[in-house]
Amino acid sequence: MNYVSIKGTASSVPRTKISNNELSNYVDTTDEWIASRTGIKSRHLSTGETTTSLAVSAAKEALARSNTRGEDIDLIIVATISPEYFMPSTACLVQEEIGAINATSFDLSAACSGFVYGLKLASQGIRCGDYKTALLIGSEVLSKTLDWEDRSTCVLFGDGAGAVILSQDQKPGIIKTYTGSDGGGAGLLTLRASKNKNILYEGEEYNPYMEMKGRQVYSFANKIVPICIEKLLDGTEYTINDIDHFVLHQANERIIDSLARKMKLPIGRFHKNIADYGNTSAASIPIALNQLDEKGSLNKGDLVIIVGFGGGLTWGSALIKW
Ligand code: UT7
Repeated sequence: MNYVSIKGTASSVPRTKISNNELSNYVDTTDEWIASRTGIKSRHLSTGETTTSLAVSAAKEALARSNTRGEDIDLIIVATISPEYFMPSTACLVQEEIGAINATSFDLSAACSGFVYGLKLASQGIRCGDYKTALLIGSEVLSKTLDWEDRSTCVLFGDGAGAVILSQDQKPGIIKTYTGSDGGGAGLLTLRASKNKNILYEGEEYNPYMEMKGRQVYSFANKIVPICIEKLLDGTEYTINDIDHFVLHQANERIIDSLARKMKLPIGRFHKNIADYGNTSAASIPIALNQLDEKGSLNKGDLVIIVGFGGGLTWGSALIKW
């Protein structure tokens, strides 16, 4: 049996950061509203960086940190809902930039659960022996998908990318993954891709921007995250008290705080960075993992649970031994 572990992490964000107060010069909002409802204080916004350029820069750093060459990579998955192109995939563009000539490359669309979905696919591919080394990236420039006149969404999101290198190992790093989806909730979080039109059919007008029924998504998140953790630990030798770090998708600080309370766990075990990044969808978990890694907070053998949830609806979790 092949096992899989995370060999290196990295992240990349646009150079420009904008605070809530600065944002309120452009949008009818206040620092007080944003910070008290979400915990967000600032976010990075692209001033030219693209989903691809952020992904490439995170990928290059992850390769360097894990002493891996581009040609060692067998598989590249980029989780994103904000690619520059439907075709070619962002993953193929990354492949070219890093010289990963031996890789199979594709993008994955599972919104804010995209990184967890990608982790499941990549680690299963390595476990069954199809691949030895995979590059998994979550990259988003969500700012281009937002209606900057819709204050109920545009203040919530940020741009950024995070990457991990996964490789075959003798001991388990990725212990278990769990994922699910519910197309019944598709209308709660939407971003239309294109208009259906041709020479015979003019098509209907549509909103090309991200739309979210915030309250309903909030309730979904509060319900699904404990389920993700329970299903993940089910059948393993671990209980919730054994877990050293919880890295949840950073959608709202209140979701993280209320979960810690509900599960009677010290809040210190939950990593929070939403204050500085906002919600970066598929990038939020790998950015957070990289921060923990860089700070030296992840010791060898630490147990980490990551949980993603978002549009689709989709959700997923993974139990990782660092
Ligand atoms: O990443 C995918 C997963 N996403 C999530 O998990 C997000 C889940 N949802 C949430 O985090 C919260 O629902 C939000 C932060 C999005 C919204 O918080 P809320 O407490 O549910 O606010 P609301 O949408 O119900 O709006 C309350 C009020 C409204 O005013 P009235 O109608 O009560 O007078 C809004 O017009 O807040 C107003 N409002 C704002 N005011 C100032 C909405 N956006 C803003 C704003 N600034 N940016």
